[in-house]
Amino acid sequence: MKIQPFSPVKDRHSFHIDVQARYWVDYDSVEELCSVLRDAAGFGLPILPVGGGNNLLFVNDYPGILLHSCLKEKTVLEDKGDEVLLKAGAGHNWDELAAWCVAQGWGGMQNLSGIPGEVGATPVQNIGAYGVEAKDIIEAVEVLDRTDLSQRTIAAADCEFGYRRSRFKTDWKERYIVTYVHYRLSRKPVFQLNYGAVSARLEAQGGLKAGNDPQSVKDNLQMVRRTIMAIRDEKLPDSAKVGNAGSFFMNPEVDRQHFRQLKSACPDMPAWELPDGRYKLSAAWLIDQCGWKGRRLDEAGVWPTQPLVLVNYGQASGEDILELARSIIDDVKRRFDVALRPEVIILGE
Ligand code: EPU
Repeated sequence: MKIQPFSPVKDRHSFHIDVQARYWVDYDSVEELCSVLRDAAGFGLPILPVGGGNNLLFVNDYPGILLHSCLKEKTVLEDKGDEVLLKAGAGHNWDELAAWCVAQGWGGMQNLSGIPGEVGATPVQNIGAYGVEAKDIIEAVEVLDRTDLSQRTIAAADCEFGYRRSRFKTDWKERYIVTYVHYRLSRKPVFQLNYGAVSARLEAQGGLKAGNDPQSVKDNLQMVRRTIMAIRDEKLPDSAKVGNAGSFFMNPEVDRQHFRQLKSACPDMPAWELPDGRYKLSAAWLIDQCGWKGRRLDEAGVWPTQPLVLVNYGQASGEDILELARSIIDDVKRRFDVALRPEVIILGE
């Protein structure tokens, strides 16, 4: 375990805002996690579990403990027929895990390739991209209960996964810390290719191989992974070069009546009907229409190829990013009467 008081956070989160935490703690076992939680309770400090810090905006120094898991092991719990149940530690890098599973010929994570961050965040956020969400492969989540320091395994069905959401972000937020995640993977995966340009790109490379023999499956998984990563690279900034937290906003949902009004005023507006009859709109499109794409307010900016992403060009403060976000929210509200909500967790506002 490593405990660092007054620890700079700039290089420990992807927005690279220059703030510090009262303490940064790296723990290497569940026992160490328990001991930190016992000590922290004595000091009455706030605690925030952090993974890769890819979805956080710090507006001020963090007055408590940023708690980082170094549980990195992965274990095959079951290997039966075509299915593999894999357990991975919360501190395992997500994309390294996805790459490893693809190399084994185990399908399920390929569309989620290239997402920055660590395993522990995958159920919390229900990370998603290119038609797949973490909930599609999560079987169970192991947690530590902060109230009595007991360990539990929670079935996916109890997590209330939704679009970028789960109970770990709502009523379980202060209660559970994710320690391990169990993923259900398949040697005969059903490929999900109908998002945006994915299938067209694959066709242009000759398409996927027919057949479910292990080598064809491996080749197909690799091809999907490479294609997804290429699309991401074209659209999304590399946070090692330009600070950002991926999508800053969620895609908003509106009711049918509101959708009809918007669609008649803007016939080319992209939208997706949801199972409940509501419509999901493209936040990127709304922001683009308001003229924000590529704009810069001093050190804070809107990414030119994906306006859903706000960036720190180097010296932005959390407040600078927030001011930019508020201006965008106001414009989208004024023009479309749609409320954009941040996807990023804002701390110290
Ligand atoms: N669009 C524009 N202008 C642009 C870019 C996009 O109008 O400059 C419109 C287009 O109509 C496009 C639509 O936005 O069809 C959707 O764009 P994209 O496919 O990039 O997806 P998104 O809805 O903007 C979501 C996720 C991303 C994820 C992609 C791909 C959210 C909040 N974001 O973005 O997730 O990578 O889909 O699945 O749901 C993240 O969560 O950090 C993230 C990057």
